[in-house]
Formats: sequence, structure tokens, C-alpha cells
Amino acid sequence: MEIKSKLILGDCAKELKNIEDNSIDLIVTSPPYADARKNSYGGIHPNKYVEWFLPITQELFRVLKPSGTFILNIKEKVVKGERHTYVLELIMKMREQGWLWTEEFIWHKKNSYPGKWPNRFRDSWERLLQFNKQKKFKMYQDAVMVPMGDWAKSRLRRLSDTDKTRDESKVLSGFGKNISNWVGRTMAYPTNVLHMATECGNRNHSATFPESLPEWFIKLFTKEGDCVMDPFMGSGTTIKVAQRMHRNSIGIEIDESFFKMVYKFTEPSVYYLFERGKTYDTTQHG
Ligand SMILES: C[S@@+](CC[C@H](N)C(=O)[O-])C[C@H]1O[C@@H](n2cnc3c(N)ncnc32)[C@H](O)[C@@H]1O
Repeated sequence: MEIKSKLILGDCAKELKNIEDNSIDLIVTSPPYADARKNSYGGIHPNKYVEWFLPITQELFRVLKPSGTFILNIKEKVVKGERHTYVLELIMKMREQGWLWTEEFIWHKKNSYPGKWPNRFRDSWERLLQFNKQKKFKMYQDAVMVPMGDWAKSRLRRLSDTDKTRDESKVLSGFGKNISNWVGRTMAYPTNVLHMATECGNRNHSATFPESLPEWFIKLFTKEGDCVMDPFMGSGTTIKVAQRMHRNSIGIEIDESFFKMVYKFTEPSVYYLFERGKTYDTTQHG
């Protein structure tokens, strides 16, 4: 199987126009934050953020396959003492473009540094917004299962009568559970909170993803040979992980020095022998 990585130097608002309709299986990206980190790669004023980003999300909608997924890492900045609303406004406007706001994952940054502010606590999470073009999209939930943990051993040892049937919620939430379904299992599905440390060895970029982040979404939403894109490529974490996981990839970066850095370590084309059940190196998190 041939796996290709295509790197593009330029503004993704323009470069995306050269990418085929309905050709991408997964987009994972972290755009520049509003006004943040002005000294390293510019920033967009929070009041202009939605206006700046919408033409890009329109192109992302066009290039994503109907069965594909878009994961957007973003967090609203504090402006004049309150959280700005540009992320919420962006979600509303993207829905008008046709996107479904399917889910929101939380990235809990396990190692965020301590701090003290008069009116808030340290910020240790970011949003990972999931958008889709349609309700039915590709999702391989078994690929991200996690060990059941020790609670299962004691909880499942002695089951009450209620545990053996579907126990409807006592607060009428509509949620029910049948605990006995989990007897004998060693793995469970994860929650929508991802506990991952931020990247500390900065890899010459001030806002890199930990490799475990794109890796988790690549496992969940793609298979080998699919195509993953990061339109704000930065230090190329998504591209590097996609290549390691035998996915095709496209990265776009406006900054020439970041682009050159990624270009150095990326193989434009690699041939792999397809072996059923073969695994590749994965990162540990949790
Ligand atoms: C938050 S960083 C992405 C970091 C990346 N996730 C990583 O792991 O390294 C955003 C990147 O987008 C780039 N960028 C900003 N505006 C862009 C644009 N219009 N088109 C393409 N890249 C852009 C910046 O130069 C920066 O490297």
C-alpha cells in the first residue's frame, strides 16, 4: 500500500480551493487562537475571529467526505475579564453552513502550570469540537477502548437483582444501565474527556499537539489508507502521526520556517506491506 503525505506552503483559505471535493476522511486542526501568541505567528482579533474563519470552514465542508469528521481544537480567550463568545458564535454560524455539531470532547491538559488570578482558576482544558456533514459518519469505537480498571473487579463480583436487568434512571433522565452486561469484559468505551499532557519539548513551535491527540482521533475516525488533513499544520504533529499510522495526509502551513521544518522529516510517499492485524507504535496517555 502506498501512503502519501502532501505538504502545502500557503494560506489555507486559498490553498484549500485546490483540494478535491469530498476527498478527506478526517480533519484535525488547531487554528491560531484569537489574538494569542501575537509574537510567534500572529493572531486574529476575537471580534473578527468568526468572520476570518467562516470562509475556511466553508472550504473544509466542501473537501470533507460525507462520511468524514472535522475535529476543531479551540478555546475562547478572556477579554476584559470575561470569556469572549467567538467560539459559541462560530458554532452557530457553522451550523448555518450545514455542519452538524455532533459532539464536544474536552482535552484535559494534565500538566497545565499552576497560576493565580483574582477571579478564576487555572485553565486546564480546551475544547475539541466535533463537526460532521451528516448524522451517519464513520466511527470505529472499538479502536479506542480502554481497560475496565480495578473498579470492575469489586463492582461486578456480587451483582444485585437490579444489576441483572436494565435499571432505569431514578431521576427519570431516560438513561438506563444493565451492569451485568459488563461481566467478563476487560475493556470499556472511553468517555468524551481526554486526559493528555501538553507537549513540553516544544519542537520549535509554541503550540504543538501532543502526538496522542491526533492519534486518538485518527484511530476513532479512520482506517489505514484513509486521508487525514491539518490545514493549520504548525510543527506537523498530525502529519507525522498520520504517516506513522499508515494514513495519507495533507498539511497546509503559512509560515515558511514551520513548513520547511515539517518538510525535512516527512516522506512524500512510503510503501507498506499490508499485513492483516498489524499494529504500529502508539503513544500512551490517560
Ligand atoms: C496552533 S498552531 C498549530 C499547531 C499544530 N497543531 C502542531 O501540533 O504543531 C497554528 C498554525 O497555523 C499556522 N497558520 C496561521 N494562519 C494560517 C493560514 N491562514 N493558513 C495556514 N496556516 C496558518 C500558524 O503559522 C501556526 O503554525
